[in-house]
Amino acid sequence: MDRSAKSIVALTGAGISVESGIPTFRGPDGLWQGHDPHQLATPLAFARDPELVWRFYEWRRGLVAASQPNNAHHVLVEIEETLSPLTIITQNVDGYHIEAGSENVIELHGSLWRLKCTHCSQRWEDRRHPLPDLPARCPSCNALARPDVVWFGETLDPHNLNAAYKQTQQSSIFLSIGTSSVVHPAAELPLLARQHGAYTIEINPENTPISGFMDEVIRGSAADELGRWWKEDYPKLLDTD
Ligand code: OAD
Repeated sequence: MDRSAKSIVALTGAGISVESGIPTFRGPDGLWQGHDPHQLATPLAFARDPELVWRFYEWRRGLVAASQPNNAHHVLVEIEETLSPLTIITQNVDGYHIEAGSENVIELHGSLWRLKCTHCSQRWEDRRHPLPDLPARCPSCNALARPDVVWFGETLDPHNLNAAYKQTQQSSIFLSIGTSSVVHPAAELPLLARQHGAYTIEINPENTPISGFMDEVIRGSAADELGRWWKEDYPKLLDTD
């Protein structure tokens, strides 16, 4: 493998936004603790009670709007500015990678800041918080609007997914940062990268189902460890080519 080609892919999950004050999904303080995701994040839940689902997403939009990207998001911007290409494949819907200034971002699970019409499928960005009317409505046809995020039971946008597979297969270094690696298909990407010859690294304070398959595991927070990896470990990787 020629790592001097330096094509890096960073797959990110909720753990990268922890230092911004955004809770993860799983674990004792996670978003799904005490909530049934099937009441809040499925097409059926939305059909049953769109206001309840919107209130959940408005609360999350509020949390994200009240905070900002952290050091880990900024390090990824620095990597992208220094090396090209870097691709971020994120499962997060908080929009922090784009807010921080990353350009090459695949938002696999959508975005809290985009809305989608349930009738005409028009998509638009709306960063207002709070939204003036809930449930929100389509500006073109006035049908119900929903958050443009992927819910349980829905498939990922095939264009995004294909782009994620392509970048993963072409990567020479693949970083899996702050994800529990239990939600598919994102959880398969680090393994696919390894099969295609990438050097794979996990940054996570805890063990995950993919930890044993990575070339290197860094135990710690993304905000601390990603910057350290970039300054200290990345140059050593180049030396070993
Ligand atoms: P999870 O909540 O499943 O996992 C968060 C991971 O972050 C865990 O492995 C933690 O150990 C790790 N973590 C915690 N603090 C960290 C820190 N400071 N630095 C780095 N890592 C830290 O979140 P995801 O893996 O992102 O899907 O969840 C995947 C998907 O499941 C989400 O995108 C969402 C959810 O259901 C949809 O909504 C479609």
